[in-house]
Amino acid sequence: MTIAYIGHGYVGLVTAAVFADLGNTVWVVGRSEDKIEKLKRGKLLFYEPGLAELVQRNIGAGRLHFTVNYKEAIVPSSVIFICVGTPSSTSGEADLTSVYKAAESIAKHLVGYKVIVTKSTVPPGTGRKVAEIIEKNKPEGSSFAIASAPEFLREGTAISDTLHPDRVIIGTTSDRARKILLELHKPINGKSVLCNVETAELIKYASNALLSTKISFANAMAFLSENVGADVEDVLEGVGMDKRIGRSFLYPGVGYGGSCFPKDVKALIAIAQLHDYDFSLLKAVDEVNQQAARHFVRKIVGHFGKKLRGKTIAMLGLAFKPNTDDMREAPSIYIAGDLIRRGARVVAYDPVAMENAKRMLPKEVLYARDAYAAADGADAVAVVTEWNEFIQLDLVRLAKGMNDLVLFDGRNIYDPQRVKALGFMYYGIGRM
Ligand SMILES: NC(=O)c1ccc[n+]([C@@H]2O[C@H](COP(=O)([O-])OP(=O)(O)OC[C@H]3O[C@@H](n4cnc5c(N)ncnc54)[C@H](O)[C@@H]3O)[C@@H](O)[C@H]2O)c1
Repeated sequence: MTIAYIGHGYVGLVTAAVFADLGNTVWVVGRSEDKIEKLKRGKLLFYEPGLAELVQRNIGAGRLHFTVNYKEAIVPSSVIFICVGTPSSTSGEADLTSVYKAAESIAKHLVGYKVIVTKSTVPPGTGRKVAEIIEKNKPEGSSFAIASAPEFLREGTAISDTLHPDRVIIGTTSDRARKILLELHKPINGKSVLCNVETAELIKYASNALLSTKISFANAMAFLSENVGADVEDVLEGVGMDKRIGRSFLYPGVGYGGSCFPKDVKALIAIAQLHDYDFSLLKAVDEVNQQAARHFVRKIVGHFGKKLRGKTIAMLGLAFKPNTDDMREAPSIYIAGDLIRRGARVVAYDPVAMENAKRMLPKEVLYARDAYAAADGADAVAVVTEWNEFIQLDLVRLAKGMNDLVLFDGRNIYDPQRVKALGFMYYGIGRM
């Protein structure tokens, strides 16, 4: 099949490369000539494990093409996926400007019959509006069906998530479009949920909101555990053994971040508001998430008191989660900013996100070549992202260069007893 993707971010580029690798001819449409030229040469604009090889292989095989010209991509394609960004507007609603712009550009080049699918996370009702825009702008004689196939890939494991998703959601009321989409997804493992467009759109928000709820619940339990003298990791282990609950996403830390959870929780609150429902549960989820980052800084402030001014904190991990260079809404932005405001010196290290971080963190933040260099001369280490290389850190070597042995473990990746036995003062989340 020949298919097109509008947008070459995490969702557009990863799914385009995977579907090219499955033998389809794939066109990717972007807005910037510069970026498209880089992509044509197999140069990626963000980090995702395994993606560079996949993109290069499929460019080489003549299956993956990049263009800024909608016509070149739309005319030969049977299915067109809209994968553009849907960031938060100031009121928390999803900003759909890029989705509607893409729909208009697609419409102008429609010939024959096309299936137009929204992969971007969009509020229920967006598919209907996309259909109206296309209907208004398409040439006479062309026809189309609208579908929603929300994406569930996770940055860091995006390729395998695309190949082996837990489910494929296909929302459309058109039998012809459903058949075409089922055919295209045949090589993909995972159960299908067939539903209407609005249901598919809501499934995506419901999933991200529930995952965020689990994280905020774990953080709230961590706050309480500290007050009652419990160990939240054991609490959640005990809770998670219940098969009805499970342990996944019940991990306390410095809060969730990234380009999806914070914006999707806010967007679902706004969607509910618009449809006469006060989603107070999700408002609390968002509030607890902000408390989590503040709670972490409070531990650092609590330890140093007024002496924090001038102290050096080695910050390990900046990306919102491991295996990505994505800094969008990363808790490190708040944590580094607050520490700097309080007069601390922050020396940061992240395996891949430092270039992006330099654009988003205060200019006072210094950067080190590795974790040991960051900790050299530091008065404390603060782990913010649980990269594997931090889990495996040689704490004896780390300690040798430090001015004072204090460890703030924002992700509970270390065994407190072991760390304390090495002479560190240890602060975890929800445990002593
Ligand atoms: N990143 C994730 O892990 C993830 C997972 C599932 C769903 N989503 C959702 O998928 C959507 C895209 O997310 P992303 O992370 O890939 O975003 P992104 O910001 O990484 O990429 C968006 C892309 O859209 C392009 N774009 C915007 N307007 C365009 C236009 N008119 N024509 C052509 N290209 C255009 C941008 O240049 C960019 O390449 C969002 O709605 C997001 O919520 C993201």
